[in-house]
Amino acid sequence: MSLVIAIDGPSGSGKSSAAKGVARALGMRYLDTGAMYRAMTWWMLSQGVPVEDAEAVAARAGEPVLECGTDPDAPTISVNGTDVSGPIRTREVTNAVSAVSAVPAVRERLVALQREIIGDGGIVVEGRDIGTVVAPDAPVKVFLTASEEARAQRRARDLAADPAVTVELTQAEQARRDRLDSTRKTSPLTKADDACEIDSTDLTLEEVIETVVRLAKEHAATG
Ligand code: DC
Repeated sequence: MSLVIAIDGPSGSGKSSAAKGVARALGMRYLDTGAMYRAMTWWMLSQGVPVEDAEAVAARAGEPVLECGTDPDAPTISVNGTDVSGPIRTREVTNAVSAVSAVPAVRERLVALQREIIGDGGIVVEGRDIGTVVAPDAPVKVFLTASEEARAQRRARDLAADPAVTVELTQAEQARRDRLDSTRKTSPLTKADDACEIDSTDLTLEEVIETVVRLAKEHAATG
């Protein structure tokens, strides 16, 4: 099996930019598993499913057809043939995604799909449970962190178009999501024992990418 690089960590730790950069640098594919949980959440909301009702969510989890493109320069995600790359980033979806992703039936379905996409490898996969559950045999595992303030600032910058979204509000919503993602029963966000932890608070994106690329090259050299 060719290389799988797993990058896990909390929201705003810089996973997406780092994972895409590593995939580009090494000529690998790229998979954003958070986008899949967001797409499932977007679809539940569009269907009027009460997302806090785990049974209602579980009952519909098998319905939507999700497709993901794995080009790091143009990752795509669609639900039943509709491109949802934009709609999955709204605050409404962001604030509902922890409830939907805590439902075991949702995770079972998406983990199976993620493993199918990973296939024979050659891919950088980012998420919360990649090194622990989705690809526990991945030879290169990174747990990317950053201080709560740094993460909220990055997120708020992404959401700068909405003047109602302050750094404080982003930090509060992010802290709530991290708490839910880290304390849920099924596959909570947690560092794999064999993951290399990188704190990106004082690192540039390029430095994070270089660190992960170096880990991958070390792995290749030692077999
Ligand atoms: O990485 P992100 O912020 O786009 O992820 C959105 C949500 O999806 C996050 O709050 C938790 C969930 N998620 C998950 O449970 N497992 C993953 N592998 C990836 C994301």
